[in-house]
Amino acid sequence: MALHTTRAPRDGDAATDVFASAFSGHVLPKYRMPEEPTPPGVVHAMIDSELLLDGNAAQNLATFCTTWTDEAVHRLMDACMDKNMIDKDEYPQTAEIESRCVNILADLWNAPGAGGGAAATGCSTTGSSEAAMLGGLALKWRWRERRRAAGLPTDRPNLVCGPVQVCWEKFARYFDVELRQVPLEEGATGLRPHQLARYVDENTIGVVAILGVTYTCDYEPVAEIAAELDRIQAEHGWDVPVHVDAASGGFVAPFLHPEVVWDFRLARVASINTSGHKYGLAPLGVGWILWREADLLPEELVFRVSYLGGDMPTFALNFSRPGGQIIAQYYIFLRLGREGYRRVQQACADTARELASVIAEMGPFTLLYDGTGALPAVSYTLTDPEGAGFSLYDLSDQLRMRGWQVPSYPLPPEREGTVIQRVLIRHGVTRDQMSLLAADLRRAVEVLSAPAPQADADRSGFHH
Ligand SMILES: Cc1ncc(COP(=O)(O)O)c(C=O)c1O
Repeated sequence: MALHTTRAPRDGDAATDVFASAFSGHVLPKYRMPEEPTPPGVVHAMIDSELLLDGNAAQNLATFCTTWTDEAVHRLMDACMDKNMIDKDEYPQTAEIESRCVNILADLWNAPGAGGGAAATGCSTTGSSEAAMLGGLALKWRWRERRRAAGLPTDRPNLVCGPVQVCWEKFARYFDVELRQVPLEEGATGLRPHQLARYVDENTIGVVAILGVTYTCDYEPVAEIAAELDRIQAEHGWDVPVHVDAASGGFVAPFLHPEVVWDFRLARVASINTSGHKYGLAPLGVGWILWREADLLPEELVFRVSYLGGDMPTFALNFSRPGGQIIAQYYIFLRLGREGYRRVQQACADTARELASVIAEMGPFTLLYDGTGALPAVSYTLTDPEGAGFSLYDLSDQLRMRGWQVPSYPLPPEREGTVIQRVLIRHGVTRDQMSLLAADLRRAVEVLSAPAPQADADRSGFHH
C-alpha cells in the first residue's frame, strides 16, 4: 500500500516550507471560499504576510486604544477564548468578575454608597459607543416616563452636546432623537456652560458632557455644566440630567486630576461611560457604563437571563460577546491598583509634555494643547498656514513614510477653518519613540519647506 496518497496540488508541502508549498504559489482566493482545505501553517503564514500591509499599531498616534499589553493579558485572552460573557449560567465566574469591575468603577467614580458593599448599577459593553447607546436610551426612557406622567407630548426628544464623537450622532439617528450640537466658540475646546441656555428646553432628555473631547483632548467643565443646569431648572423647572462621556478621561482624571469634580459626586450626573480599551488599558473590545443609582436605569430596558438557577438582569445591544476582555480588565485593575494606573498615566502625561515643548521650539507650529490638565496628548497647528508652503495634511503624509500615523483634521463646526495635528500618548508610547518622532518631524518640515522639488539625480536611491 502506498504511504503517500495526497493529491498532486498538495505534494511538496511537507517536503519544503510554507513559501515553497503549492498553496503559496498562487494568489490567495479573496472573494470565494476555496474548494479544498489547506494546512494551517501555510494559510497562517500567508495571512500574516498580508497583515504587514496594515499600519504598525505601535506607531499609530491617532488612536486612543490599547496597543500594548503584557504577556499575562495574552494568556488570559487565550484562556477565555471560548467564554461567552452573556451565558451567565455557564460562566458564572465571568459574570461575577464583570460585576466586580462595575463595582470597582463605581468606587473610582464616587457613586453613592460604592465601595461599601452596595451593588453598583452598570455593565460592560463592546466599547464606549455601545455604552453611549445604553446611556442615551436610559435618558430617553426616563424623559418619556416623566412627560407621560405629566400628560405632555413625547414626540420630540432632543439631546444637547458639544463636539461629540460620532457614536452620539449614531445614537440620535438610530433612536430618533434630535441631536442639538452646540458649535465650538472661538478659543474654546468644548462645550461651555453659558451656551446651554439657548439649546436646552422641556424636550431635552439630557446633556452629554465629555471628559476628553476627541478633537481637542480637553475636559469639558462638567461641574459648571451641572451648575448651569441647576440654574436652568430654577428658572424653567426642567430637570435635565447629565451623562458624562468619559471614554478616555474616565481612566485619566481619577489618577492625574483628582481635584477635577466631574463624576457621581455631582448629583446631576446620572450616568458615565468609559472605554476599558482606551486609557483603561484593556485589550480592544470592552467599555463600561454605570448609573449613579438603580432608579436611573428604567426597568423596561432590562432583560432577565437565567443565572445559577436565579435571574440576572442584563442591558446590552449584543447578545454573544467574548468574556476575555472583561477578565483582562479585572486583571489590570488588580495588577496595577490605583498607584499603578497613576504611574502609567503620569508617564504618558510627562512624555506628552516633553514632546509638546520640543514641537513648540521647532518653529512652524503653535501649540493648541500641551498635554497638561487633561488627556496625555499634544495638538498643534501651523502658525502661518498660508506662508508655510505646506499643509498639515502634507506633513501627515511625509511622516507616514516612516510609519508614523499622525492625523490632521479640521476642528468641529464653527472652527472648521483651523486644521490641527494631534499626537496621542498612551501606555507603551515611550519618550525615546517620541524623540524619534520629533527627529522625523524636523526632517519632514525641512523636506516640505525645500524651495523646489528635488531633481531625480539628487534623490537617494537604494544602495544595495
Ligand atoms: C469621547 C469619545 N466618546 C466615544 C468614543 C467611542 O468609543 P469606542 O471606540 O470605545 O466605541 C470615542 C472614541 O474615540 C471618544 O473619543
